[in-house]
Amino acid sequence: MSNPSLLILAGDGIGPEVMTEVKKVIHWYGDKRDMAFDVSEDLVGGAAYDKHGTPLHDGTMAKAQEVDAVLLGAVGGPAYDNLDFSVKPERGLLRLRKEMDLFANLRPAQCFDALADFSSLKKDIVAGLDIMIVRELTSGVYFGEPRGIHLEDNMRVGINTQRYTEAEIERGARAAFELAMKRDKRLCSMEKANVMESGILWRDVVTEVHADYPEVELSHMYADNGAMQLVRAPKQFDVIYTDNLFGDILSDCAAMLTGSLGMLPSASLGFPMANGRPKAMYEPVHGSAPDITGQGKANPIACILSFAMALRYSFDQGAEADRLEAAVEKVLADGLRTADLIGEEGVAPISTTEMGDAIVAALDASL
Ligand code: IPM
Ligand code: MG
Repeated sequence: MSNPSLLILAGDGIGPEVMTEVKKVIHWYGDKRDMAFDVSEDLVGGAAYDKHGTPLHDGTMAKAQEVDAVLLGAVGGPAYDNLDFSVKPERGLLRLRKEMDLFANLRPAQCFDALADFSSLKKDIVAGLDIMIVRELTSGVYFGEPRGIHLEDNMRVGINTQRYTEAEIERGARAAFELAMKRDKRLCSMEKANVMESGILWRDVVTEVHADYPEVELSHMYADNGAMQLVRAPKQFDVIYTDNLFGDILSDCAAMLTGSLGMLPSASLGFPMANGRPKAMYEPVHGSAPDITGQGKANPIACILSFAMALRYSFDQGAEADRLEAAVEKVLADGLRTADLIGEEGVAPISTTEMGDAIVAALDASL
């Protein structure tokens, strides 16, 4: 059997820097665990725009459809802020999500013990936090029509449309219930059924799907209350299922509870391919961080943990994913910190490269 294939799209800003560290980890698995991957690389976002005049070349899109998993770094940067909307770096990312039909975006927010002090919330509120946000990723206001800016009576009007079919709500709900079954069997669905018809439909469909998962305790919450509860008492949640826009916002909020956006991975999953693996893309939740690009300050952990999610969800290597997560936990417990993880205490930060090397060394030590 041929090796599983990975397409690396490092993208812009700190994307290439953090991806360099992920590649060390990928090679480690080939060398030390006899798990070689066929890795290819291509451009996305501003980097693709610079070369091809588009944030995602058709050839890259075709490759992404063929590989077993895509690993993406980050897209965007100030150099591209004034580009036409249709060729902005973000459009490349959104095209990948849409055309690969990656409807279930898994965003875990886990607080590592060594970092509990680092959260902006009190330690006892976040210590041991382990929640999973499932964000619907291919529909809603991100893609709904009509959209655009046009003139009405000489007045500019900006329009976006929140649109969900029941099938779209249902498939994401099933993914969320399946995850809840493997965790603490609690699911909280968030929408704005008090003001949006799409929210009423959302609540109805999630309730219908619940019939197939009677063991899961289902609750519903308005998304604004959900934001408040995430900051007030985040440990009340196990799995949260929400739409594309609320999920974008709530997942940044949940991520920050854990101390740093530099720690949080994500998986975007679609339907199974012919080989049984889901269509999949893995990416850190953080962005391209242009303010620290090229300075060796970026934290590669979110991107490395995204590869751990690939091991778990694409390659059925849960034990190896555990090994990689434990290696990350070990370097943090040893006190190693990139600049984003340093608070008042004045520990000297290590560089992106040093963090990657330390994680590889911890992998070695795990054998
Ligand atoms: C995210 C990002 C993207 C989004 C941007 C870069 C288009 O914020 O993945 O959360 O809004 O979905
Ligand atoms: Mg976001």
